[in-house]
Amino acid sequence: MTGTDRRSLVQDRFTQVFGGQPTHWVQAPGRVDLMGSHTDYNQGYVLTMSIDRSTWIAARPRPDRVVAIDSINLDARVEFSLDDIQPDPAARWADYVKGVAHTFGAEGYALRGFDGVIHSTVPLSSGLSSSAALEVATAMLFKELGGWVIEPLQIALLCQRAENQFVGVNCGILDQYTSVHGQAGCAVLLDCRHLTGQATAIDPGIQVVICDTRFKRELSGSEYAERRAQCEEGAAILARHYPEIRALRDATLAQLDAHAGDLPDVVQRRARFIIEENQRVLDLSGALAAGDRAAIRALAAASFAGARDLYAISVPAMESMMAAMLAAPGAIGARQAGAGFGGCMVAFVERDRVAQFIPAARDAYQQATNREPHVYAVTAAPGAGALDPA
Ligand code: GLA
Repeated sequence: MTGTDRRSLVQDRFTQVFGGQPTHWVQAPGRVDLMGSHTDYNQGYVLTMSIDRSTWIAARPRPDRVVAIDSINLDARVEFSLDDIQPDPAARWADYVKGVAHTFGAEGYALRGFDGVIHSTVPLSSGLSSSAALEVATAMLFKELGGWVIEPLQIALLCQRAENQFVGVNCGILDQYTSVHGQAGCAVLLDCRHLTGQATAIDPGIQVVICDTRFKRELSGSEYAERRAQCEEGAAILARHYPEIRALRDATLAQLDAHAGDLPDVVQRRARFIIEENQRVLDLSGALAAGDRAAIRALAAASFAGARDLYAISVPAMESMMAAMLAAPGAIGARQAGAGFGGCMVAFVERDRVAQFIPAARDAYQQATNREPHVYAVTAAPGAGALDPA
């Protein structure tokens, strides 16, 4: 869909649902992690990229304190009062909007009611952060309507808080940070302790391709929380020997090896993955910028092997996709993305072979699993912000 078609779709829907025209337009992108699975809540590094798939909200302020939101993707509508914000298990999608209103309101940011139409090209529940895109788009809209002066980092942190406390998913900062701070044309090396990002070039001959297994993952499931707790346990045990360790980000493999016997076996495996993955993030940033194909391939393969064997976030559909991606023409390297347990994976592909890569990866995966994947190229898109009114 072109930008113009998307504008007309959203505008027509607004007119049909609310009458008249929207006055404010905002966008927030999804993201893909190029390296760094589960490193964010260990205060480590992630090489992340905001993608040209985004959530838009077109809105018009209301005179009262009501928010009326309509989702084109879900063909659903919700209304709530800014003076009584309650989650609703029957309309979970709206909890992301409500959570943002609740969290920013509690911090003293003035909220205005609005009528709004939401449209997303980030596939829902597939590991590309459609939830963060909705949260950040909502925050951007309230900011525009309320004329707030607010640091971008504060927007990311409060959106994360909304997801942690209102929605009830204990995610790290990766998704919200990327949606706010993503940069067009490059990846971002995110330091999750210092909350700083460094623009990182991707060799122009390399294309990032999303390979969605379309095997559904459940992020709020217990697995994510369990991994997080195991990492915290590992860091706490190592800290008894090395007081400078506050999180696994601070630990080295030598320290882990020296005290491996003190850690329950499963905790030791989780910690090893995180420590190795952190180093791979730094190594991949250099390799992607330099276009070092052999290094990219080896780092991505090691990341997937660790995700499968040490962190245990792979599922058979992901193994089938790995094989399909690596066998397709132009493949440089491939790995998991997002939280794992299905969802999207990511391939680094020779730009001039993408047209051959896509059908080959798709067909091979479909043959192996009987499931039709979605395979498409993505480019690094700008972080969230206002769009010009139509
Ligand atoms: C999800 C979470 C992120 C991050 C990734 C795994 O996307 O929302 O905070 O932990 O999983 O890297």
